[in-house]
Amino acid sequence: MADAGNKKEIDRVSGVETTGHEWDGLKELNNPAPRWWRWVFLVCCIWAVGYWIVYPAWPTLSGHTEGKFGWTQHRQLKESQGEITARRAAYLGRMKGMSLADIRHSPELYEFARAGGAVSFKENCAACHGTGAQGNDVRGYPNLNDDDWLWGGDLDAIYKTIRVGVNSGHDEQRGTQMPSFGRDGLLTPAQIDDVTQYVTELHKGDAAPVTEARTRGAAVFADNCAACHGKSGEGSIEMGAPRLNDEIWLWGGDAASVHNTVTNAHLGVMPTWENRLDDDTVKMLAIYVHSLGGGK
Ligand code: HEC
Ligand code: HEC
Repeated sequence: MADAGNKKEIDRVSGVETTGHEWDGLKELNNPAPRWWRWVFLVCCIWAVGYWIVYPAWPTLSGHTEGKFGWTQHRQLKESQGEITARRAAYLGRMKGMSLADIRHSPELYEFARAGGAVSFKENCAACHGTGAQGNDVRGYPNLNDDDWLWGGDLDAIYKTIRVGVNSGHDEQRGTQMPSFGRDGLLTPAQIDDVTQYVTELHKGDAAPVTEARTRGAAVFADNCAACHGKSGEGSIEMGAPRLNDEIWLWGGDAASVHNTVTNAHLGVMPTWENRLDDDTVKMLAIYVHSLGGGK
């Protein structure tokens, strides 16, 4: 410091004393700090002292000073969680007793339900239906994003499917009853070959080549399959029988897969959620699934 003091000099241009600090020929003038700056500094010091008094601030041997306000992160978390619960309760209270259609037409409740449904879907449904409800690599789990519905794609139908499940053992379950035509000897192997060819070509409509096998297959279909799958393979929501005249398949649409399905029917199981999730959650799930794009 003494050294620096020795170098003090008066700047020729401004007439102000320099501090003696010099960088490559630039010298610092010893001007006092501006008044406003000193005031702000003072106010900050006073503020800091006030802060130490009301908030936790200084470490002590056994912990830290608590502050007059008794603020803790835990308490703040609890308060905001309480706020969220209260807000949720307000929405859920309004949803009680409302029909799905009413919820759908209330933009605010609809958004709330959709968001809640999305969370619950990830927790409960994604394992089978995929995180984006796009279905699964394993066969038999339907894609819920498209407008191809086994059990109906309006809100009430989706709600019921989730509530009672499919082949789930619930009293009101949606049950599937596709017979195992091959295993149980209901059709001969030749008949199964014919109907397989007919079914795999159904999506081609009139463009399908007219062969003898196909004509025989059509007759087998009319006698054995149309009751559930519809005259032209359009499917039936009452029976949960999939549409067969499109190219969306649950169990595979190539000849080997169809042959296999007709020989040994696969009956998918979708659990009932009635006793596992509360009714509000089932409603929110229905709204979420319905909103995925295929809802009617
Ligand atoms: C253990 C696997 C599994 C779980 C978990 C599961 N599902 Fe399913 N789900 C299925 C199967 C299998 C089907 C097809 C049933 C059939 O063949 O008719 C299905 C069908 C459906 C359908 C009917 C689709 C249609 O085309 O009509 C809806 C809607 C549905 N599930 C929603 C859900 C929701 C929402 C959840 C979560 C709460 C869920 N699923 C959880 C296996 C599951
Ligand atoms: C009693 C009603 C019923 C009859 C009769 C019936 N089915 Fe089915 N079929 C179903 C149901 C229900 C499913 C869906 C099974 C599941 O996934 O749970 C199904 C599924 C299928 C599938 C799989 C579709 C896919 O998307 O992968 C094919 C193929 C099929 N049936 C062909 C036939 C043929 C061919 C016949 C006649 C020889 C026939 N079914 C008779 C009810 C029936």
